Amino acid sequence: MTNPLIPRLISAVPAPMLFLDRGGLIEAANPAAEALLGGWIRGRNHVAALRQPALLALIEATYAGGRGGEARFVQTGQSGQAVFRVTVTVIGDGGAEGVLLHFEDVTHLREAEEMRRDFVANVSHELRTPLTAILGFIETLRGPAKGDTAAQDRFLAIMEDEARRMNRIVSDLLSLSRVEGQERMRPDDPVALDDLLRSVAAALKPQAAENGNALAIEGADNPVMVRGDKDQLQQVVLNLAENALKYGGTGKTVTLRLSEGEETGSLKGAVARIEVIDQGEGIDPVHLPRLTERFYRVDTHRSRAMGGTGLGLAIVKHIVNRHRGRLKITSVKGEGSTFAVTLPKG
Ligand SMILES: Nc1ncnc2c1ncn2[C@@H]1O[C@H](COP(=O)(O)OP(=O)(O)OP(=O)(O)O)[C@@H](O)[C@H]1O
Ligand SMILES: [Mg+2]
Repeated sequence: MTNPLIPRLISAVPAPMLFLDRGGLIEAANPAAEALLGGWIRGRNHVAALRQPALLALIEATYAGGRGGEARFVQTGQSGQAVFRVTVTVIGDGGAEGVLLHFEDVTHLREAEEMRRDFVANVSHELRTPLTAILGFIETLRGPAKGDTAAQDRFLAIMEDEARRMNRIVSDLLSLSRVEGQERMRPDDPVALDDLLRSVAAALKPQAAENGNALAIEGADNPVMVRGDKDQLQQVVLNLAENALKYGGTGKTVTLRLSEGEETGSLKGAVARIEVIDQGEGIDPVHLPRLTERFYRVDTHRSRAMGGTGLGLAIVKHIVNRHRGRLKITSVKGEGSTFAVTLPKG
């Protein structure tokens, strides 16, 4: 019998742990390990409980005189895959008295890693598209279009568009990373939302007129104050209103509505709410949860054609988070969409 302290010791550890005796039976399992592998495992052979070749091979090598090490253990459950890094250690000197297993949940690390990889791949792809176009036109200007001034003008105009698009992507990425960096620091300058709505509406007037759209403001007759960063809140309303104009169809009305109220849910207390309402074709519910992801677009082709980078809503989400607010998107197919930003006043 091994030291009786071992079961008591490992049951005090929050991460799953197992202690295997000299013969490979599970002599002790803490509650986390039973939750992970099942309540039946104590007294059983570890092979039955673990069943994953990489980990079993490591344990076998450890019993055969090895020094232990690390292996991966993956568990597929209803809510997806959990990945553990298992550390295998020999207990006792000269001949294993037992083997100790410690499971560390590294699922979140892997997810972060995957997100980073996706992000780099996305950025490269987004930049490569305009870059390829520019390089192609340079070649054409040097070769077939040499001396053709009409073609040169046309190609240079396209090249300028593409270069501007790359510029937009880079500056949007920079502002995104700036907001992300500040996210933990809540800004607290007094900001008048009624003024802010009016100034955004004024800035977008030409664009609205171009699309044949009307811009209406509601609820901005009295001052509505919140604590925040004025430029960033302006950016939020601008991005949402630009989207409403871009995707809200022509000859329709885009409404910027301001209101105040009390919240009882996760956001408690006095709040101000800005709603940007369009009468466009609406968004299919399958897209709603992903809309604020970087580079996510419902119709990539259409968004690109309109000069979109797919970063507008990602920026909105991070600014709203920084203000400890909420963004809620509702949409009815064929009737339009509402993007509601709720900000705490206190
Ligand atoms: N009001 C809206 N109605 C319908 N679809 C919308 C609306 N707002 C956003 N979308 C969809 O969400 C996608 C993401 O919007 P987002 O603002 O992040 O990017 P974008 O408008 O394509 O580019 P930009 O970076 O220039 O804003 C859009 O491509 C569009 O498909
Ligand atoms: Mg946009």
